[in-house]
Amino acid sequence: MNLFKIYIILVSSFMTVQLESLRDVLAKAELEIYIEEKKLEINPRHKLHYHITPPVGWMNAPNGFVFFKGEYHVFYQFYPYDTQWGPMHWGHVTSRNLVDWRHQPTALLPGREQCFSGSVIDNDGILAVMYTAHQISVDPPYYNESQYMAFSIDGIDFHKYKNNPVIVSSPFSSPDFRDPKIWKHGNVWYTVIGSRTDDHRGAALLYRSINIINWEFVSTLAESNGELGFMWESPDFFELNGKHVLLISPQGIVAQGDRYKNTYQTGYIIGNFNYENFEFTAEATFQELDFGHDFYGTQTTEKDGKRYLIAWFGMWESAHSEDVDGWAGAMTLFRELDLVGTRIIMKPVDAITNLRMQTISEGELARNSSIQFEQTAELIINVDLSERIELELKGNGVGGDWAIVRWEVDEAKMVLDRAGDVRQVGWEPLDSMTWRLFLDTCSLELFCGEGEVVFSTRIYPNGQWRVKNLGPQPIHVVAYKLRRSFPE
Ligand SMILES: *[C@@H]1O[C@H](CO)[C@@H](O)[C@H](O)[C@H]1NC(C)=O
Ligand SMILES: *[C@@H]1O[C@H](CO)[C@@H](O)[C@H](O)[C@H]1NC(C)=O
Repeated sequence: MNLFKIYIILVSSFMTVQLESLRDVLAKAELEIYIEEKKLEINPRHKLHYHITPPVGWMNAPNGFVFFKGEYHVFYQFYPYDTQWGPMHWGHVTSRNLVDWRHQPTALLPGREQCFSGSVIDNDGILAVMYTAHQISVDPPYYNESQYMAFSIDGIDFHKYKNNPVIVSSPFSSPDFRDPKIWKHGNVWYTVIGSRTDDHRGAALLYRSINIINWEFVSTLAESNGELGFMWESPDFFELNGKHVLLISPQGIVAQGDRYKNTYQTGYIIGNFNYENFEFTAEATFQELDFGHDFYGTQTTEKDGKRYLIAWFGMWESAHSEDVDGWAGAMTLFRELDLVGTRIIMKPVDAITNLRMQTISEGELARNSSIQFEQTAELIINVDLSERIELELKGNGVGGDWAIVRWEVDEAKMVLDRAGDVRQVGWEPLDSMTWRLFLDTCSLELFCGEGEVVFSTRIYPNGQWRVKNLGPQPIHVVAYKLRRSFPE
């Protein structure tokens, strides 16, 4: 090859690279301008005050929860152009304390691929993203999924790796192969990816890498015995109190009595993992993590020995009244996890008390009496479990959603009835007989005791919140107004 030819090849490949990144930069800038303009058209009536929501458009599962250079980063499945699901981008928010959040520019825009869920890790001062590239084709099975990577030096500007994909396909014939969760153990990187066996059982696949770019399949970490659905989404794998937790969001578990009543579930399997032979030995069967109507597709991260979790505060097929307002979807409050025996308990992160403003009321709430407040509150309710407890949550206006929170003494069950759609589960308090109830503009989260039972449910009251004691006993309530911690 003559020198001139080499020169031309170098210059043209340099030009191609430069042109591609110029196109990316322009597309990102146009999107941010679009978001700024479109935000002015949002109707804020249902906008949550202290939960993450998209600036405009659609949000579903959280992605890439990580602490990097002094800030927590959360990304999310984002479609800016409609309040229905569409080609997936990665939205981005940051916080110093897991309470006060701000928007950042959209981190990943779809190219030939849609940017499905994934995770982010701090690789010695460079953020490394692994996400699922979902590509549509005209021939059956009409899509494929592979794993892509992207990098960022400043945590704001993300660049896709040039030689994607880094993992082409799963060992199974199904195209379903998504939601990589990456971590490092010793000097080796690992990732767990959700998939589906050839006979349609959900599975979690383990891969490893010594350089974060070249990956090899290690083993099937766990798979459904036939009763845990056809596909496992959002797998996560981490240590908690000396055990290993496999957190999964299975699709296709059949409802049984009080269990599995949402379209899809999120839950966990506790066990032990051996890094020598890569065997995960379960110690307990699958358990649901949250018992509300709207909780799916979790992300966790660890900081200072604490394991924090967030989930999509929604569910496929759930109605969202905000759809007509220019935005749709939210994240749950951030929770800290702990393991007691083989049960995970969840409490809101400690910093959540930063949201408390004035005390709205404090004292006995007599039978049939109610307290009323604007859009946000945290209620701390001391309960006497020897008698039925029943609280009605409703707007003070006509119509709108209602919910009833009830303690059934005979069955020792916590019940959440959202307008006739009931979720219930047994509650055995570890120690504390207190409920913490968080109400935002259109959401409720109830933490019972130390977090043995948690319900996360979207609900749209009409007017100001009114909480009424319908039970036979007076109950002791402290109620705080909570401030806004997420931009309107
Ligand atoms: C996935 O589909 C796209 C579009 O048909 C195609 O270009 C790509 O090569 C496929 N990737 C894999 C890993 O099969
Ligand atoms: C509570 O309200 C119900 C229904 O309005 C009424 O029947 C009942 O007597 C009231 N109880 C008390 C203690 O006020």
